[in-house]
Amino acid sequence: MQDFRRTHTCGQLTAKDVGQKVKLSGWVHRRRDHGGLIFIDLRDRFGITQLVFDPVLSPAAHKEADKMRNEWVITIAGEVIMRAPDMANAKLTTGEIEIKTSQISVLSKAHTPPFSICDDFIEVNEELRLKYRYLDMRRGDIAQKLVKRHQVMMAVRTYLDQQRFLEISTPILGKSTPEGARDYLVPSRVHPGAFYALPQSPQIFKQLLMVGGMDRYFQIAQCFRDEDLRADRQPEFTQIDLEMSFGTPDELFPIIEGLVGQIFKTCGAIDIPKTFRRMSYAECMNTYGTDKPDLRFDMPLVSIDDIGEKSAFEVFKAQLIGGGIVKAICVKGGADITRKGIEEYTAFVGRFGIQGLAWMKVQEDGTLNSNIVKFFSPELQTELLKRLECQPSDLIFMVADTPERTNQALDHLRRKIARDRGLIDRNRYEFLWVTDFPLFTWNADEGRLESEHHPFTSPHFEDLGLLAIEPLKVRSSSYDLVLNGYEIASGSQRIHDSSLQQQIFSILQLSNEEIRSRFGFFVEALSYGTPPHLGAALGLDRLVMILTQTENIRDVIAFPKTQKASDVMMDCPSFVAQKQLHELNLAIEAQENIP
Ligand code: AMO
Repeated sequence: MQDFRRTHTCGQLTAKDVGQKVKLSGWVHRRRDHGGLIFIDLRDRFGITQLVFDPVLSPAAHKEADKMRNEWVITIAGEVIMRAPDMANAKLTTGEIEIKTSQISVLSKAHTPPFSICDDFIEVNEELRLKYRYLDMRRGDIAQKLVKRHQVMMAVRTYLDQQRFLEISTPILGKSTPEGARDYLVPSRVHPGAFYALPQSPQIFKQLLMVGGMDRYFQIAQCFRDEDLRADRQPEFTQIDLEMSFGTPDELFPIIEGLVGQIFKTCGAIDIPKTFRRMSYAECMNTYGTDKPDLRFDMPLVSIDDIGEKSAFEVFKAQLIGGGIVKAICVKGGADITRKGIEEYTAFVGRFGIQGLAWMKVQEDGTLNSNIVKFFSPELQTELLKRLECQPSDLIFMVADTPERTNQALDHLRRKIARDRGLIDRNRYEFLWVTDFPLFTWNADEGRLESEHHPFTSPHFEDLGLLAIEPLKVRSSSYDLVLNGYEIASGSQRIHDSSLQQQIFSILQLSNEEIRSRFGFFVEALSYGTPPHLGAALGLDRLVMILTQTENIRDVIAFPKTQKASDVMMDCPSFVAQKQLHELNLAIEAQENIP
């Protein structure tokens, strides 16, 4: 076996090492022949070191170097020398030196890769990059993001350990958990016809750890959800999951603020505020039309129902009579948006089912100009300008529709205008706690109430009296943490009283049999002395996305799945042999799918 042990990595050697005899191993990044001298850039995850082969000083090594091809793995020995000043490369930490190489040998040869590894800037189709993820990693960008991910995990462990949280692993094979997505199921061989479910989160286990007296728990937990994928969602993702006993949100929030602060400081050299703003869900929906607003720019949604009502504009009036609402946003300096621009924004809100986008421009003299201004009395115009805090050369957009559609359309429009007009500072980090979500939502298809979060979320203590009479008005003791428009964490105070838990189950119309079979063990556990407890889970992948300024969650996961939840490298999910199905007591209905 060849000796491939290294004295240094490829990112380590600098001018202070000149004169040292060194041994390096790595990949041939690039080879160049310069009139006799051969140069090889040798690469590993730590960096690139230039090797030089002189035909006169080391003829044998020079002859071997001539045979080297990109991506071969080699090992070399030589001496660190200074590069000629005009050959120095300020972009590399090793850019002032090179290795006068006297020995070189091949550890493994390589096929020509399906895309260039040394030209980082070349755009490569993502499917091909995912199929050859291990080669994509060599290109540097993914590797850097994985390093950042590692740093985040280390910061989490250090910080939570200091806060007396214990890292405890919980099972992957379990029973369906109540996060609301579809489960990934695993058939049992020894219990024919029975299935495990992969955890959508460690929710039940972490609450049981509190019942068990573990007091403060955390875990960097893999979670599995069979749901529709988006740019910030993967079927398998990672949570920084935590739970604590005898606490309230006022104790938990500073812990999470400190945790996020530590992550940003150590992993991004970014100082963030010590405490984050808080806003109730109701206020948040009202002001931004969403529960995860991007606060890096302003442009709030302003309710103008009363102005619409008093106007002579039939479109607004008809919507208001039908139970709809009217809301407006003010685009600062937006009077420069052309007719065509307005038409494009109208088509954009049309995607959300909105029929038309009303607009008014504020002219230099402060008066309003628009095709619909005639429907608004001078008093109403003055009120509109005042309420939206308009200045000359601003533009007002107005939408009237159902509350849901109006909020959704204006939320998207607000964000699109911010992007189009360059209002988003990529180096700003705006955190917001959104609190007091509704406890239930109405499932119209099934004609029953559903938990907005999960059924173990405690009702807001001020609303306990409403539970029996107006459950849809009950707020929960829950919270999300939002950062730059992403939901990065979510959690709640839990129910620790088994009779309240039973009441919630019965409001959700779960039969005793359903309760028993799905959560019987859990309700029983609550009856053996449960401390008040609460917790939250942060989306690790989303945090790393934000820290590495990517909008694609796949970039921060070593081996991610595609939008269709498949792994194109392993080619999975895949069909299995009849024998394996037989052992599991399974039969596939579409027979042609069985190999
Ligand atoms: P929740 O379902 O809100 O809460 O998840 C917590 C956080 O996990 C992240 N997240 C995801 N990230 C990537 N891909 C996904 N498919 C995905 N789904 C969720 C988000 C989210 O805020 N057990 C509760 C937490 C608790 O109550 O303690 C839970 O799982 O950043």
